[in-house]
Amino acid sequence: MLLITFILPLMNNVNAQRSSNKSLGNLVTHEFMDNTLMLKTDYGKASVTVYDEGIIRVRIVKDDFIEKFSYAVEVKPLNAKVTFTEETKKLILQTSLIRLEINRNPVRFVFYSPDGVLLNEDDPSFGTSWIGTEVTTYKTLHKGERFLGLGEKTGNLDRRGSAYCNWNTDNPRYGPADDPLYVTIPFYIGVLNDQVYGIFFDNTHRSQFNFGASNDRFSSFGADDGEMDYYFIHDTNMSGIIGKYTWLTGRMSMPPLWSLGFQQCRWGYFPDTEVLNIARNFREKKIPLDVLYLDIHYMDAYKIFTWHPARFSNPAKMINDLKLMGIHTTVIIDPGIKVEQGYEAYEDGVKRDVFAKFPDGKLYSAQVWPGWCYFPDFTKPTVRQWWGNKFDGLVKSGVEGFWNDMNEIASWGGGFTPDLVDFNWEGEHATYRQAKNVYGMLMAKSTFEGTKKLMNNRRPLILTRAGYAGLQRYTALWTGDNQSTEEHMMLGTRIVNSLGLSGVSFAGVDVGGFGQDATPSLFARWISIGTFTPFFRSHSSYNTRQAEPWTFGEEVESICRDYISFRYKMLPYIYSAFHQSVVDGMPVSRSLAIDHTFDDKVYLSIYQQQYMFGPAFMVAPVESTKALTKVYLPAGNWYDLHNGKYYKGTNEIIAESVLNQLPVYVKAGSIIPLQKGAQYSSEIPGDTLFLHVFAGKEASSFDYYEDDGITYDYLKNIFYTRRITYDPVMKEITIEPVTGSFTSKFKVIEVLLHGFANEKFKFNGLDIQTQKTEVDLLNALPETDPLSIEPFHQKLPVLKFSINNDKGKMLVKW
Ligand code: GLC
Repeated sequence: MLLITFILPLMNNVNAQRSSNKSLGNLVTHEFMDNTLMLKTDYGKASVTVYDEGIIRVRIVKDDFIEKFSYAVEVKPLNAKVTFTEETKKLILQTSLIRLEINRNPVRFVFYSPDGVLLNEDDPSFGTSWIGTEVTTYKTLHKGERFLGLGEKTGNLDRRGSAYCNWNTDNPRYGPADDPLYVTIPFYIGVLNDQVYGIFFDNTHRSQFNFGASNDRFSSFGADDGEMDYYFIHDTNMSGIIGKYTWLTGRMSMPPLWSLGFQQCRWGYFPDTEVLNIARNFREKKIPLDVLYLDIHYMDAYKIFTWHPARFSNPAKMINDLKLMGIHTTVIIDPGIKVEQGYEAYEDGVKRDVFAKFPDGKLYSAQVWPGWCYFPDFTKPTVRQWWGNKFDGLVKSGVEGFWNDMNEIASWGGGFTPDLVDFNWEGEHATYRQAKNVYGMLMAKSTFEGTKKLMNNRRPLILTRAGYAGLQRYTALWTGDNQSTEEHMMLGTRIVNSLGLSGVSFAGVDVGGFGQDATPSLFARWISIGTFTPFFRSHSSYNTRQAEPWTFGEEVESICRDYISFRYKMLPYIYSAFHQSVVDGMPVSRSLAIDHTFDDKVYLSIYQQQYMFGPAFMVAPVESTKALTKVYLPAGNWYDLHNGKYYKGTNEIIAESVLNQLPVYVKAGSIIPLQKGAQYSSEIPGDTLFLHVFAGKEASSFDYYEDDGITYDYLKNIFYTRRITYDPVMKEITIEPVTGSFTSKFKVIEVLLHGFANEKFKFNGLDIQTQKTEVDLLNALPETDPLSIEPFHQKLPVLKFSINNDKGKMLVKW
């Protein structure tokens, strides 16, 4: 007897420490009400809510549901039409886009298209399971299934065979295969059975995604703690999935037009005379520029919201001098506030209780650039307001851009902020384990909301390094400290495309590379790729060679001038593409997988970097060391941007890729609005909008968008938009009437007809003469071309008509 009582407690103890997998059990009770199905099983509970016809949210807990808010999702379920059926073995929820079958014993979820094609199914044994607090959902891995997205991740376009972790990390000098990086976007797109689905796992703890890495049985997603809480999305194509995901997590607002121009950065330009010199050099050398950045050296001892008294003795004057040159100023902002008596932000912060604390109430401190710092707790609403108001001085000095860095939180010692540090979490309290992955996004949100208010209806530029799903509502994103290597340049395009698939349109990399010295050819090629990237900024580290375009010699300078100039010609097109992101979440840089989802070629490692920049340009990034490259032209037909040559699609070609010639193709049937070049975005680019139309077999349309580019007045209907359509069967180009009350800056439209036979044209029913005009579209050719390709001067028929305030419909017929 004595012996038994001694052994039993010991065995219990052993069991308590052994971790074993426990899955969601058999159905015990269920109730369907208001588009939500509540399930109780013999181990765990689930709730299933139809958010929209194509979005179903599944929440699963071991014990009881607690009231939960989300930093990512701000929308409420719509009143979608759902039918609920009970069968002996399963329960069925059906909408016009999804059929969800829930097996009763045990409870497992199987998603179908409405006509019964399998989209996604729980692994029958594991479904949703727990190991301790760790919760994971296992999905059967199918032959041919592909996985895309997950935001800022290295690796291939198709992520099958790889696993990823989300734990926002400052990994200086990250390698081209490293994981995790700075951002958490737990959303991926699956491709199976000629169908596309999306899964957004809304859990801010450290999360893991496995797309068949080290196993051939399942894909899975899980987190260290918290709820299984995922949204299953289905639509008829990939852009529909992105549209639904961005409906859930929000879309960007119109960025300032100037933030779409070229931006020059370096760690760091100082003093003020140096900054002005850089600006004057751009102007003298006629290289367009809109933004200059100040890195940490502008501050007094790296103290946020201060200026270095000697280096920048009169910041308002310097900023105004830049403004007179058409250049906007952006400054870096780190979250760490130096612990120093007499420093206003520190003293005020302590007084107002804004900093993150240990659970015993002592303030948490770690070292960053200024030395020991405290960190604002951005999960507390009053702290967000406090932080936002602190930008008053910078805004008054004329700063318009705010570059949020080190917000993973990064600190010396590897950024190992202790898990137990307490965060307010909107009054509900959470540890750093839960708060880390949203910290960066909430810093950007506070910065955005604060500066927006202070800037009196003008749009700030917010840039962030760290973030979480939904960050696109507040900020642009750059991919942190890349390296000046060919591999990083190619990786950068994949990451930007992946961010586009994951809701973040306004993204870019450090063009030229942050770490190491860029070679002249790498820099030139990177600028040409950057020209076709949503966020276009050159940046480099203090311990590398200078990296302004003219420092690499005349040839590189000239290539940079030509490509950057072309960026400015594209501004009407780019701005309209951004507007589409605002409206429906469609990214500006679009992986070919969006429109050619079921074409295996787009996933091949040689072609996977290719992307559409807006609806018309297909860019094939290529290393600067290659004068020839293979390019895949997907379905459709294509024109070479450099020489006008016409190609049939679904075709692999060998393309010239000498240094001044980035392979770029125009989709046949495209409509591309361009303007004359400019040295900065607010410079008046003449009075003519050039509509380039490329003949093709397919009809197309382009939503042209314009507004003042600087204020939020567009929200009050003060914009100018008109749909332009091309119909090769009806032989028509239609410019639809204007909507919105803004007056376009253009008074004349020139329609430039590429690939059109010599036709007679009518404009609004009357004959109109075409002029033949020499068009050198890219104007980037070819004095510097080592292979001396002939310049592309095509004689195109051009129609020119005045639109002076004419807001009505216009019709070109042939
Ligand atoms: C971080 C940033 C980098 C910046 C540097 C100094 O490394 O990622 O862009 O230049 O800090 O502020």
